[in-house]
Amino acid sequence: MRLSKKMVLAVLCLVILPLVLLTVSWILLSGGGAAAAAGTVRLLLGLSVLALLLGALLLLRWQANHFSKPFKQLQEAAGLIRDGNLDFELSADADDEFSQLFDSFEEMRLRLKNNAEERLRYEQDNKVLISNISHDLKTPITAIKGYVEGLRDGVASTEEKRAKYLSTIYSKADDMDKLVDQLSFYSLVDSDRIPYHFTRLSARAYFSDCRWDFKEELDAQEFETDYENLVPEEVEMVVDPEQLRRVISNVISNSVKYRDRSKEKSRISFRIRQAGKKILAEIEDNGVGIAPEELPRVFDRFYRSDASRSAVTGGNGIGLSIVKKIMEDHGGRALLKSEPGRGSCMTLELPVYEESAHEQDIDRRR
Ligand SMILES: Nc1ncnc2c1ncn2[C@@H]1O[C@H](COP(=O)(O)OP(=O)(O)OP(=O)(O)O)[C@@H](O)[C@H]1O
Ligand SMILES: [Mg+2]
Repeated sequence: MRLSKKMVLAVLCLVILPLVLLTVSWILLSGGGAAAAAGTVRLLLGLSVLALLLGALLLLRWQANHFSKPFKQLQEAAGLIRDGNLDFELSADADDEFSQLFDSFEEMRLRLKNNAEERLRYEQDNKVLISNISHDLKTPITAIKGYVEGLRDGVASTEEKRAKYLSTIYSKADDMDKLVDQLSFYSLVDSDRIPYHFTRLSARAYFSDCRWDFKEELDAQEFETDYENLVPEEVEMVVDPEQLRRVISNVISNSVKYRDRSKEKSRISFRIRQAGKKILAEIEDNGVGIAPEELPRVFDRFYRSDASRSAVTGGNGIGLSIVKKIMEDHGGRALLKSEPGRGSCMTLELPVYEESAHEQDIDRRR
């Protein structure tokens, strides 16, 4: 604690001065000339009392200043926070016991400010998402209305034309269905309520099944695919098969969406292997790739690269944030490597099931 001038003066008046004056009085009295010294002693005693009074006064003022100023500052700061103003700075004048309290208060203000800014960003992102989804829904609705009018007004005059119109209506309705599904799933992710049903299964068998699930769609998109599964049959993992399929579907849909049309053939390679206690599922494409400066942000919610935003591919930038969340909820992770012009490779890392580790995990959750 630093002593102020007032405090030093108060100590001087309260302790040093009376002590000196009393000592002098005592010396005078014990000197023998009691009668002669009586007047001086009275004066000295009077001065001592005056010094004591002055000291007490200074001490009171010092105390009032020392405590009331920071209290007032804190009171004002609390008032500003109550009124929703978080743009001020609270700093202590002196390095005393209040400075610690001020530091904690300042830390609390900064945290509140960060939370408020994050909430604002989040609300803005949600508004953008709603407007994007409404726009994405409007496109198939307009198309469906157009085709239905064509059927009603007899524009589709032949059986062949009618069948074509109906199949387009079906595919547009399917697009809408997927969009609505994506939106409702996103709200589950957002509130951390993804319904998981974990089961233990063979990694080799699971990924082989997945391969066939996506093969038809990739063939229809004229993708060349190759597949290699090096995981031994007995290696197991604990996953939610449906949610893991969603992860793979999101990754594949990106490879399709961001294919490089200047290349003669678009390709996707699947490689599944075991590395120690991990199962690595790699999905590699020869698409447009991602610029190095954009790569660290692609897992962020609502992030879309500049090129994707200006392209007509559509999307809201939530696919990879869902991938990240589901992989983390599986005790794994998703890693993306990419090179513009060459392509991207997503590695999905999952823990190998181990009896003892699983039991420990259950014990821990209990
Ligand atoms: N395989 C890929 N090739 C090139 N760019 C990719 C690839 N995967 C992701 N990206 C980039 O990462 C961004 C984020 O991907 P993400 O899947 O989260 O969003 P999206 O595909 O734009 O929209 P959504 O998935 O919501 O429909 C994309 O906009 C794109 O720029
Ligand atoms: Mg996507």
